[in-house]
Amino acid sequence: MGSRIVATGRATPRTCLSNHDLARHMDTSDEWVRSRTGIVQRYVMASGESLVELAAEASRIALSRAGLKPTAIDAIVVGTISSDYGFPSFGCQLQYQLGLDTIPAFDVAAACSGFVYALSVADASMRAGDWGRVLVIGADALSTMVDWNDRSTAVLFGDGAGAAVMVNEPGDRGVLSSLLRSSGQYWELLAVRNRGVQTTIDSEARRQSADAIRMKGSELFKLAVKSMADITLQVAQRACVSLQDIQLIVPHQANLRIINAVAQRLGLPPEKVFTNVDRYGNTSAASVPIALDEALESNRIHDNDLVMLNACGGGLTWGANLLRW
Ligand code: ACO
Repeated sequence: MGSRIVATGRATPRTCLSNHDLARHMDTSDEWVRSRTGIVQRYVMASGESLVELAAEASRIALSRAGLKPTAIDAIVVGTISSDYGFPSFGCQLQYQLGLDTIPAFDVAAACSGFVYALSVADASMRAGDWGRVLVIGADALSTMVDWNDRSTAVLFGDGAGAAVMVNEPGDRGVLSSLLRSSGQYWELLAVRNRGVQTTIDSEARRQSADAIRMKGSELFKLAVKSMADITLQVAQRACVSLQDIQLIVPHQANLRIINAVAQRLGLPPEKVFTNVDRYGNTSAASVPIALDEALESNRIHDNDLVMLNACGGGLTWGANLLRW
C-alpha cells in the first residue's frame, strides 16, 4: 500500500500588498525586492481574519475535489508555526472548524519545511496501516511575525494555507520516498520568540523587534541552496530515479534566486521548476501546497509524472518528497 495525493486546495487572505504598497511605508523599492527575491506582491492577514478559517477553506476545496466529506478523514496533520494561540494546536482548531471529532489532529513545527515534513509523517502512518485518508495542511502567517520597521524581513513573507487530501491505495503511484533533516546549530539564523498570531492579527498591532522574526539572510541563503539541492538528489537516489526523469520540481517558494540556484546546481532547466513566489512571497509551510495546487490547476502535472517537493526553513529544517502522480 502507498499513499497518494488525490486533491489539493489553497486559500489566501483578502489583503494583497504590492512592493509599491510597501515602499510607501518603508525605505525599500519594487526594484530592490524584485531583483533580490523575485517577489512582486503578497497576501497578508488583517483584523477579522483567521488563519485556521483559511486552512478550513483550503481543506473544503481539496475535500470537494476529492469527492469526500470531511467525516471521511481519519487524521489531520498540519505543518505550521503559526498556531492562533500558544496552544492548543492548529490541528485541533482546524478539526473543530471542519466539524470533526476524535480523529487525531496535530501540528508539525518545521517552519518553511512544514508541509514536506507533514506529508512524510502522514505517509509513514498510512503505510503502517494506521490511517486510510488524511488531510495534510501547510499554513502560516509570517507577515504577522515580522517587525514592519525591519525592511530586510518585512518584504519577504506572505500568508496563506494549502491543503492536500491523501488516500491509501495499492499500486505504484503516490509517495515514493521522503527524507527529512534538521540542524539545530543554525536555529538563530531565523527565529521568533512569540509564536501565537491571533493577537497580532486582531489588534493590527505591529510586532516590536524583540518579538519579531530575526533573520541572518545571507547565511540562510547559502544553506538553503545547498540543503535543498542535496536533499533533492538524495531522495531521487533513494528511489532509484534519475533527476532527468522528474517532470516537475515544486520547491519551497522563499526566493527566486534560491530556487534558480538550486536548479542550476542540479542541472535542471527552468521549465522543470514551478515558481509562483512573485505573487505570494514566502508563505512558509503554505508555499509548497499552494504551489502544488497552482501547478495542478495549470496542467503542469499529469498522471504518472514524477514530482519532487523540496523545502528548507528555520530550524534549520529541510526535506523532500518524491511522488509519482
Ligand atoms: N529594501 C532595500 N534595501 C534593503 C532591503 C529592502 N527591503 N532589505 C535590506 N536592504 C539593504 C540592507 O540594509 C543592506 O544595505 P547595506 O549594504 O547598506 O548594509 C543591503 O540591502 C543588503 O543587500 P544585499 O547584500 O545585496 O542583499 P542580499 O543579496 O543578501 O539579499 C536577502 C538579501 C533577499 C534577504 C537574501 O539574503 C535572502 O534571500 N536570504 C534568504 C532569506 C530567506 O529566504 N529567508 C526566508 C526564510 S528561510 C527560507 O525560507 C529558506
